[in-house]
Amino acid sequence: MSDRPANPVPAAPVAADVNDPVWTATAATYQTHFNWNDAGERVVIRQLADEVRDSRILDVGVGAGRTSWLIGLLTARYTGVDYTPARVEAARQNCPWADIRLGDACSLEFADRSVDLVFFSNAGIDSLDHANRSRALSEFARVLRPGGLLVYSTLNRSGPFFGAHPGPVHAPGKPPSPYRVGRFAARAVLHPAMHLTGFRNVRHHTDLFEDHQDWAIDTMPTHDWSLIVHYVTPDAARAEVAAHGFGGTRLVDHLGLPIDPSDAADRSAWFYVVTRRRPNDEPSQGNEGPAPVPAVS
Ligand SMILES: C[S@@+](CC[C@H](N)C(=O)[O-])C[C@H]1O[C@@H](n2cnc3c(N)ncnc32)[C@H](O)[C@@H]1O
Repeated sequence: MSDRPANPVPAAPVAADVNDPVWTATAATYQTHFNWNDAGERVVIRQLADEVRDSRILDVGVGAGRTSWLIGLLTARYTGVDYTPARVEAARQNCPWADIRLGDACSLEFADRSVDLVFFSNAGIDSLDHANRSRALSEFARVLRPGGLLVYSTLNRSGPFFGAHPGPVHAPGKPPSPYRVGRFAARAVLHPAMHLTGFRNVRHHTDLFEDHQDWAIDTMPTHDWSLIVHYVTPDAARAEVAAHGFGGTRLVDHLGLPIDPSDAADRSAWFYVVTRRRPNDEPSQGNEGPAPVPAVS
């Protein structure tokens, strides 16, 4: 006789339960429209290119290979990893020359200190919930050699995407305003199908939203608000990487402009974190690191 309860309480959905089907469903779209990037990404890659050329690069959440054509061309020692099988297949078709593998950011099959650059682009890290985000950052710290670089983009808790819901419903701390009600009505008339999908998605996932001020779980306009994503403020992002063994951190907004400490950068829906693995025996000094992250003047 089984000792399991006859009517088990279903587990609460987590971000991955919601996001995994979206990644699979949009693999074909990513495969055909994969030449997007923004000034921030171009600036960051330009700044790192000389240092990481011909080194060991790990491109996490590689999707359909968009970034394989950017940083993958800097070295023959490039590996792209994604945990969505349809995206791994799409990346292999787009980039037959590249080493693309199925793998999870939270449990990487790479040796300690074996990688020179870990790259996780297009706010891919934000589809992990808070606990898994921390696991992924620990994994990046493990596989990077001391002094190695970690670069990722992340959604800004202080930026315009946070709380940008398709209806007069509000994000925590953002009550409905006449502007939001007007925008809701206008979208319903101009884009009814998209509007209804987005509205339904937000309503459906509202109970998963959290707001801790310096980080939050919410949704975002991309993919009709179907994803559950993580937001973080610039200052909290600095503290987060420092707590995971990184230093010399620099933040860059979507326009490629530096974000200084205490600048909320509320103009930027996402920003880039560029940081360096501290040696294990070196104590954390907040945002200070062993060597500054290179910048191009
Ligand atoms: C926003 S897409 C970005 C794709 C690609 N980097 C780009 O910029 O076009 C995020 C990607 O991260 C992948 N991903 C999300 N969580 C992951 C995890 N835990 N491990 C590996 N890949 C993950 C998804 O499958 C998806 O392909």
